[in-house]
Amino acid sequence: MAEHIITVTTPSSTYECHVGAGILSEVGAIARSSAGGSLACIVSDSNVAPLYADAIQASLEEAGYQVFTTTFPAGEASKSFQTLAGILEAIATFGLTRDDIVVALGGGVTGDMGGLAAALYLRGIRVVQVPTSLLAMVDSSVGGKTAIDIPQGKNLVGAFWQPSAVVADVRCFQTISPALFRDSCGEVIKHAVLADPALFSRLEQTPLTTPGIPEDELACVVARNIEIKRDVVDADEKEQGLRQTLNLGHTIGHAVEAASNFQLGHGTCVAIGLCSMARAAAAKGWCTQETADRISSLVRLHGLPTDTTLDHGTILRFASHDKKRHGTGVNIVVPAEIGEVRLHKASLAELAGLIDLGCGTEASR
Ligand code: GLY
Repeated sequence: MAEHIITVTTPSSTYECHVGAGILSEVGAIARSSAGGSLACIVSDSNVAPLYADAIQASLEEAGYQVFTTTFPAGEASKSFQTLAGILEAIATFGLTRDDIVVALGGGVTGDMGGLAAALYLRGIRVVQVPTSLLAMVDSSVGGKTAIDIPQGKNLVGAFWQPSAVVADVRCFQTISPALFRDSCGEVIKHAVLADPALFSRLEQTPLTTPGIPEDELACVVARNIEIKRDVVDADEKEQGLRQTLNLGHTIGHAVEAASNFQLGHGTCVAIGLCSMARAAAAKGWCTQETADRISSLVRLHGLPTDTTLDHGTILRFASHDKKRHGTGVNIVVPAEIGEVRLHKASLAELAGLIDLGCGTEASR
């Protein structure tokens, strides 16, 4: 199968994202050519390290690196100052210098932890992202956002730190639970609604959750998702404008996620947010009812929910505390048609109206 290579070019750096099946063995050579250095520290978690750290270590050693590994307990609770400090101390103990590299091996939490540790250590060393979950491949490993959570909110402390390379091997999906894979499909559908009617139709024909879906289909879809994200990040690395469109589905989605105390998966909540905003947009005449219905149908095809039973006051309370809030309003992203969205600055009163129109209304249709 051909390997897909997508080049990201931001004002701060240019790097390649490699997508394929069975390409973990290339991590060493890709790190060597994109990041250089002598020492490599693999940062991974307690779930992923036992599966893939040996293979990555062998590949890095073959490329001439001396390799160290540091792991932390899997889970969102590890996105903390405490875990970050442990990783930084491990990197320092291993003696990495400014020329050496971090290899972040795992899902979204690991990408954040490895990326942020690399951004901070010696005021910044290179990082190669090796995402192993669908969500990390199509979203968090690309674009340089890294962060930890604090009690006041998720992702409130972080840095933009672009990787030197991304290596996404879709064969890693073999070790992901079907529930986690399905959850990530919410972000894939979001990208299709945002920018690509052809990808949307492709997902309608062959949902990513189709049993026995070929690896080359998965790799094509992951590569297309990275291209969509690349196009946004190239134009707006630091989220001054266009990058906000990646928050499609997130205003209501984040609120549902926070209200569930993060028990519901992120992609699942994005799917709920996307469908709810599409229903509200259709009611306002901002998109057609057919567009809203197609979005909900595709979400359902992937086994994800399209609505929430939360009361509207709770949704509004969490949505208005979101960190994406700007001044007295919230920048919301509204689907106009499949492949086209608009940014809209809504007052909190207007947001309340959209929540009334879009949430808890699926059953009544
Ligand atoms: N996940 C949204 C972004 O990277 O901007």
